[in-house]
Amino acid sequence: MNTDYDFTAKIYDPILFFALKPIRIAVLNALLKYKEQTILDLCCGTGNQLKLLSKNGFKNLHCLDISDSMLKVAKNGACPMKIYNEDATKTSLKNESFDITMISFAIHEKDRATQKNLIEEAYRLIKKDGLLLIVDYAFDNKTTKLAKRGISIIERIAGKEHYDNFKNYIQNNGLSSLIKKDHFKLLKSNRKLLSGVTISTYQKIKNEA
Ligand SMILES: C[S@@+](CC[C@H](N)C(=O)[O-])C[C@H]1O[C@@H](n2cnc3c(N)ncnc32)[C@H](O)[C@@H]1O
Repeated sequence: MNTDYDFTAKIYDPILFFALKPIRIAVLNALLKYKEQTILDLCCGTGNQLKLLSKNGFKNLHCLDISDSMLKVAKNGACPMKIYNEDATKTSLKNESFDITMISFAIHEKDRATQKNLIEEAYRLIKKDGLLLIVDYAFDNKTTKLAKRGISIIERIAGKEHYDNFKNYIQNNGLSSLIKKDHFKLLKSNRKLLSGVTISTYQKIKNEA
């Protein structure tokens, strides 16, 4: 599908590669003990995170995005990963197909209903006791002023709708207001980029009802 990311796809990696590198490495480290497991990156963009995992011996990698242009970049580099061009809020993938699902820098830019649908879809796709890893912004008393300023500028450049959704996300306390306590248990979280970004790992709690 053609999306807002048609232009961004051309500049996303060249502009953000170095800023995102410590985060990509932290995610790699968080997942190292799960090399044999099946991993889905929802809203994978240019697939950079999975490419790094692939270089480090991960085998069962799946990458899903709605943007043709971002996925065109993801296909470069001949990394062995399965690519799906789909809407992450309503995929065609079967229930409980993945040990681990990650969503990186995609939740903050959505309206509230879409944020909830995205996390619900991840819940549906994760196996019993599997993991959800979310990388996204966190603004609180740990976040430095420099991080808040820099991130706000980047989000403003991304356009009005994107920026309005980002502001709502921050005002609503980010992830903590979106993750249902009867669906996921927080295992650990790690702050990066002057504490402006959180890498949070949750375990799926099976709802027996
Ligand atoms: C800011 S980029 C993040 C890309 C990547 N996860 C990363 O960490 O660099 C957000 C991505 O979400 C994708 N996206 C937005 N809405 C989507 C949807 N409903 N389904 C699938 N992908 C979506 C966009 O196409 C874009 O590639």
